Amino acid sequence: MTEEEIGHLLEKLDLRQKVRLLTGASNWRTHPEPALGLRALTFSDGPAGVRGVAWDERDTSLVLPSPSALAASWDEELVTELGGLLAEEARRKGVDVLLAPTLNLHRSPLGGRHFECFSEDPLLTGRTGAALVRGIQGGGVAATAKHFVANDAETDRLTVDVRVDERTLREVYLAPFEAAVEAGAWAVMSAYNRVNGYTMAAGPLLTEPLKGEWGFSGPVVSDWGAVRSLLDTARAAQDLAMPGPESPWADGLFAAVQQGLVPVARIDDKVRRLLRLADRVGALGERPVARRPLAAVAADGRGLLRRAVAAGTVLLRNEGGLLPLDPARLRSVAVIGPHATAVRIQGGGSAEVFPASVVPPLAGITAALDGSAEVTYVPGLPPDGRPRPLDRSWTRDPRDGEPGVLVRLLDADGTELHAEHRLSGRIVEPARLPGAETVEIRALIRPDRDGDWTLAVGGWGPVTLSVAGRTVLNGTFPLDSDDPTRVHVAPPYRSVRVGLTAGTEVEVVARRGLAPGTGVATVLAAAPPPGDPAAELAAAVAAARDADAAVVVVGTTEESESEGRDRDSLALPDGQDALVRAVARANPRTVVILNAGAPVTLPWRAEVPALLLAWFPGQEAGDGLADVLFGHTEPGGRLPTTWAAAREDVPVLRTRPEENSLVYAEGPYVGYRAWLRSGATPAYWFGHGLGYTTWSYDALEAPDRVGAGEPFDVRIRLRNTGTRRGREVVQLYLSEPEPSQAEPSQAESSGPEPSKAGSSGPEPVDPSARRLVGYTAVVAEPGEEVVAVVRVDGRAPARWSTERHRWEWTPGNYALYGGRSAGDLPLGGTITLSVTPPRSPGPTTESALH
Ligand code: BGC
Repeated sequence: MTEEEIGHLLEKLDLRQKVRLLTGASNWRTHPEPALGLRALTFSDGPAGVRGVAWDERDTSLVLPSPSALAASWDEELVTELGGLLAEEARRKGVDVLLAPTLNLHRSPLGGRHFECFSEDPLLTGRTGAALVRGIQGGGVAATAKHFVANDAETDRLTVDVRVDERTLREVYLAPFEAAVEAGAWAVMSAYNRVNGYTMAAGPLLTEPLKGEWGFSGPVVSDWGAVRSLLDTARAAQDLAMPGPESPWADGLFAAVQQGLVPVARIDDKVRRLLRLADRVGALGERPVARRPLAAVAADGRGLLRRAVAAGTVLLRNEGGLLPLDPARLRSVAVIGPHATAVRIQGGGSAEVFPASVVPPLAGITAALDGSAEVTYVPGLPPDGRPRPLDRSWTRDPRDGEPGVLVRLLDADGTELHAEHRLSGRIVEPARLPGAETVEIRALIRPDRDGDWTLAVGGWGPVTLSVAGRTVLNGTFPLDSDDPTRVHVAPPYRSVRVGLTAGTEVEVVARRGLAPGTGVATVLAAAPPPGDPAAELAAAVAAARDADAAVVVVGTTEESESEGRDRDSLALPDGQDALVRAVARANPRTVVILNAGAPVTLPWRAEVPALLLAWFPGQEAGDGLADVLFGHTEPGGRLPTTWAAAREDVPVLRTRPEENSLVYAEGPYVGYRAWLRSGATPAYWFGHGLGYTTWSYDALEAPDRVGAGEPFDVRIRLRNTGTRRGREVVQLYLSEPEPSQAEPSQAESSGPEPSKAGSSGPEPVDPSARRLVGYTAVVAEPGEEVVAVVRVDGRAPARWSTERHRWEWTPGNYALYGGRSAGDLPLGGTITLSVTPPRSPGPTTESALH
């Protein structure tokens, strides 16, 4: 639709109709406007799958590896393909706008949503995010770049004021959003937090640079509930308040415009942007949407997910070439660790979706060996004592006897208004019925062991729990948070110990009063009695000793990695460190698989020969990991984030605000840039990851000179020195300049006059400072030599001047480093940046490369 046509549509609406469009009609939908042929737009989270409008375990979705794993692939083609799969899922579920990608950064490893963000580096984040945007939107579904901006931690996220200087914002935190807008993102979500005093839903950054300088033409959608006031948000470049139907805009915007407090032109611009979005996703008029054919993806979504597991898995260590394991030489494998069966496929919070099936590592390994070797499984640890929602494996619905639970809604007299069979004891959104005052979850449970079980009920407000007709818990739990995740998705549990007998079925009933303002979730959960840690460990050691190889799967818990809170520890919980150590001592052929969305400390890493980082690998976890373990596929991952050896070494750690401010005092020195500056050595550098072959880095060729703003190519020659075909991610880093005093800085043409270099611009050169400016992947056969051509964007050497509010290029010599991680850069070169582009193409020694 042309702008003119959209203008005509706008003219058909009166003020009341316009204002109505600017607040959601419900949690996930906007209002339709029949006068325009506009249907309601449907939104959904994102980003590891498409949940759809229901928070219901029966409404399943394909679950992708978490975003950190996607970034670890350093493979934009694959990410675009996965974006296509998300689009396909969105269309299957009637979703127009996917609330993804999350483009905040891994600033601190303690960040609770680390798994949901791509990387610590703005370039890798931006390129991966842009690739996902292209994939999603290629399928006719809108992507939403979120959370704009500086929502890099969860503590007090609704109110925290992030204090960050302009240069850092531009170069680091805004850069991925700029890349997403450049890739054509149709929507942007404003964050909950404040930046430099402004709440983001009313912040000036929505105007500049987002809509002005970057030319973003779609709507800014609020994070859920982030429009908390009327005039400041309405006057700002915030366009849509979600969810609805209640919002300060729904209540007061019409009157505010009538009173002249908000200009009509502001409202028109908001509606115009919403109509553009509607047109793009095919919700306006009868026009079909141009969509890329997705047949290949649709036919084999699970195959693509399996491939993605291997592509994002990072081989951190492989002493003596233990991996890949040769199935022909294995008679027995011991698989150890609770995560080998209860694998964590995704992180918690709004990103969560419900898989139709999950392949745990044990199942993947067993299937891959197909009876050729004996597979033994030992948990190695007793149950951790944390109650988990009841699941179908040991519960029955008392009414129909089917595996699962019975959920009922009762009125004030206890009369049943509604009853349904559910598959899980976690009911996030019960059916909404007038007159319903209580939600009840009822199940017959059959314990598999004697002892004191922990039974728990989750949810705010009045709750009770009864076992075999006896009330064992009764209380009221007052809401202590405004955070939507804590209120609606992950309420706290209250628990009680109850003695149960193995094999004897007993009825448990949880009830929660649906008092106003107490959120929607109710949970009935349980944990088995504590076991004997020494006996479990001994069993694991014995199994490892008797096997040809041991695979230990360890990881983080639901409690530690979730939206709505940050982590407080980097250690693996529950004695998993001791388990790894004991197994590695018992079997020299031990492979450790890490199932975590964010860095954990690995104090035993030098004691195990092979270490794979699988992240949260999505539903095809086990098959994808088995492909890697047995060498059907190379582990494709390279770290998108530096991993610390010890918590005290982490240069940027703090996520807790002080007096409501979180100061980004490190400036642009985030991630490996902070590590380089601090002089500390991490366990594994950003970019690190081994494949199944080896490489020699032989030569780096760059143009001698480039002009300011000119893109250039750096050619890196390398050779596959191993015995199998491999893929290598070739990375290029650039130093800070050594300015030549003779030449002035070059400013972006639109900016004010260039300044003299050295006058007030460049800071002193820090010899350790370097940052990623380009990367590409190459594939080579054994012995084959290849040239990786790494394209460097013309803006890469520029620096944002906070003083003059523009990009500036400092002329001078820049060191280039080529290699395989921020800490392993065997090749070097120099490039001279001049203010004027060179007359002829820069002299490269290209011929020497062929
Ligand atoms: C999260 C967003 C999410 C939204 C809707 C918010 O709490 O921060 O990422 O898209 O909820 O679920």
